[in-house]
Amino acid sequence: MKGLEVLSTGYAKINHILDNQQLEKMVDTSDEWIVSRTGIKKRHISCKNSVDLAIEAAKEAIKNIDQSKIGLIVCATMTPANRMPSNACLIQAGLNLNEQDMMCFDISAACSGFVYAMTIVNSLLKTMDDRYALIIGSEQLSSIIDYQDRNTCILFGDGAGAMVVKNSQHAFYSYQNSAGNQEVLSAKNDPQDYFLKMKGQEVFKFAIKVIPESIDQVLNQAGLTLDDIDYVICHQANYRIIKHVYKKYRCPSDKFYMNLDEYGNTSAASIPLALATMNEKGLIKKGMKLILVGFGGGLTWGATLIEW
Ligand code: UT7
Repeated sequence: MKGLEVLSTGYAKINHILDNQQLEKMVDTSDEWIVSRTGIKKRHISCKNSVDLAIEAAKEAIKNIDQSKIGLIVCATMTPANRMPSNACLIQAGLNLNEQDMMCFDISAACSGFVYAMTIVNSLLKTMDDRYALIIGSEQLSSIIDYQDRNTCILFGDGAGAMVVKNSQHAFYSYQNSAGNQEVLSAKNDPQDYFLKMKGQEVFKFAIKVIPESIDQVLNQAGLTLDDIDYVICHQANYRIIKHVYKKYRCPSDKFYMNLDEYGNTSAASIPLALATMNEKGLIKKGMKLILVGFGGGLTWGATLIEW
């Protein structure tokens, strides 16, 4: 068994919107600056923590599947509700899945968390017969953002996306990498230095280097070219980063899905949120090949090539 079959997806619907016009009243910025530099028009902000957001996304994902088959819950997050128990254990409880054999844990790999999680889940499921896994990316980033810091508060939003998968013969190729560095992106546990900090230009340069590296790695493993791929779903950080990548490949822009105008950067939630909204719109069909690319704090980066 090679890869994963995606059985279902779901995402949390957050009603409260923080748009650029509201941010203009909070920090020295403008809608024009934010849209032209990032592509972001609004972000969704929730008073729910990353467990409750994850449960909402997961409930939608599991509603039509045999829940007794779920044997693994993995939650990618950098805003866990607690140091312990893990989000994944609390999600298990919130979904009333306590009465069955289950392994639950979180992954901390910032904006690469969902891509890392898929690779771990693909390996683990191979040891678990025909059980299903629930993979979630969930973030309440508003809890670690300084809304007086215009470098960061214009970028980030809250969100959660979930996916149920099982073992299959579908294509699955993955590449991960990391480089220990807390200078360019960090959110520390220090009460005196608590908010997310970012050196934007350095992250930008890092992103436009590692996204093509990650895409090339999985394409080479698969013996495919970008022409064989239906969609590339990059971590939704900045449309200029994504534009740089599709221009480099001389590839049509619509192959690179974007929803960051609507949601901003939701870190580990951004890829599953994109997948769930694409699935809801009917954009993804059985047999399509997708490349998912994550990059962010750690520094971490990587990609998975999957067949839907
Ligand atoms: O999940 C991964 C996390 N992060 C990322 O992927 C972020 C990657 N980096 C970026 O997206 C971009 O670097 C930013 C959007 C963060 C910044 O865009 P930039 O084009 O790199 O702007 P900059 O930092 O070079 O700043 C240009 C100017 C500066 O003013 P001066 O020095 O030229 O007078 C900034 O002070 O824009 C100023 N500026 C702003 N102006 C209005 C910085 N932030 C803002 C703002 N509104 N929010």
